[in-house]
Amino acid sequence: MSTGEIPLLDLVTVHRELREELRSVFETALDTAGFIGGPMVQGFERDFAQFCESQFCVGTASGTDALRFALIAAGVQSGDTVVTVPNTFIATAEAISQAGARPDFVDIDERTYNIDPEKLRAYLETECTPSLPRGRVVSKRTGSPVTAVIPVHLYGQMADMDPILELATQYNLIVVEDACQAHGAEYLSKKENRWRKAGSMGRAAAFSFYPGKNLGACGEAGAVTTDDEQLARRCQMLRDHGQSRKYFHDIEGYNGRLDAIQAGVLRVKLRHLAKWNEHRRERARSYDGFFADTEKTVILPHVPSWSRPVYHLYVVRVAERERLQKDLSAAGIATGIHYPTPLHLSKAYEALGFRRGDFPVAEEATSQVLSLPMFPDLSSEQQRRVVTEVLQSMAVRESCGLR
Ligand SMILES: Cc1ncc(COP(=O)(O)O)c(C=O)c1O
Repeated sequence: MSTGEIPLLDLVTVHRELREELRSVFETALDTAGFIGGPMVQGFERDFAQFCESQFCVGTASGTDALRFALIAAGVQSGDTVVTVPNTFIATAEAISQAGARPDFVDIDERTYNIDPEKLRAYLETECTPSLPRGRVVSKRTGSPVTAVIPVHLYGQMADMDPILELATQYNLIVVEDACQAHGAEYLSKKENRWRKAGSMGRAAAFSFYPGKNLGACGEAGAVTTDDEQLARRCQMLRDHGQSRKYFHDIEGYNGRLDAIQAGVLRVKLRHLAKWNEHRRERARSYDGFFADTEKTVILPHVPSWSRPVYHLYVVRVAERERLQKDLSAAGIATGIHYPTPLHLSKAYEALGFRRGDFPVAEEATSQVLSLPMFPDLSSEQQRRVVTEVLQSMAVRESCGLR
């Protein structure tokens, strides 16, 4: 059995395999000096919209830009309150603040780690006052109207969208999906009796193409998807200094364009995404099988019957995470913690005045989740080694009475 290091994700092999195709993207850009906009960007936007079963795609410079532009373009205004979960990457909350709104949080489902629709309902019914026209409510905590919700499809699994969309209709909320980790994930909508792709269910969705994502650029990149043509048009303006045409600025915008080389790279890689996602699912099934007898000590990812996740991360939950992580690191196995601090307790959001205990499910999950190596080229030999080392670490602890 190999004793080599096992990374959390392998970004070298995939690019080695696609080297010739990727080189030709760079050569085309150099030959045509097409660095900003142009056919490579438009081609990728067309292909990615199709992949997401969405009508429009607007490439952006990052997932954070995509979230911010989607919120602003969908109508979130300065002084609004926008609800999301505490256990996400900080960019979700940054985008809310940078759109001029105030982030507020709702706790998560303890098995899927995604927003709990019942807690969203309780928030809207009991922590807000129904004082605005058209169903909108005012948050008692922030004193401002709740205008949007961002369900985060964490680790590559979609949030339970049917009840969220129902609440959104009832309370007139804009839904922006944070699909930054969920390229290709699917949700079985009971309401529509069909599978829906991440990025096709909200008013808009944001994707990140940060290199480690299931679809990753060779640098920074992101995109908004939507079926709303006006919203797409506004995102196009926001990403390009508010221009409706060159040097005619209808609004103040940002420098947030997707550059042509990244778009070309993403277009090449998009052709492989379905296969890579399938490989991730196979690796996840193997982990599930290997750990099947340890369900009490190693809590595995929960996949509801309505979900087809794409395993951006394979996240287990263990009581003594730091010790396990240390043991795995000593054995040459890299792991990750996504994320170590829930945002309501993060220093950056101190001023919002939250306290430990406000979102107990997210807080507990945050202290126990551990991401194991997961990438399409992960070999079964590598997986066996990961599992062996996890079990060994847990067994040693059990036999020493450490649990
Ligand atoms: C859940 C989530 N939201 C937003 C982002 C922000 O994307 P980017 O890093 O491309 O700005 C990320 C990326 O890490 C993410 O994982």
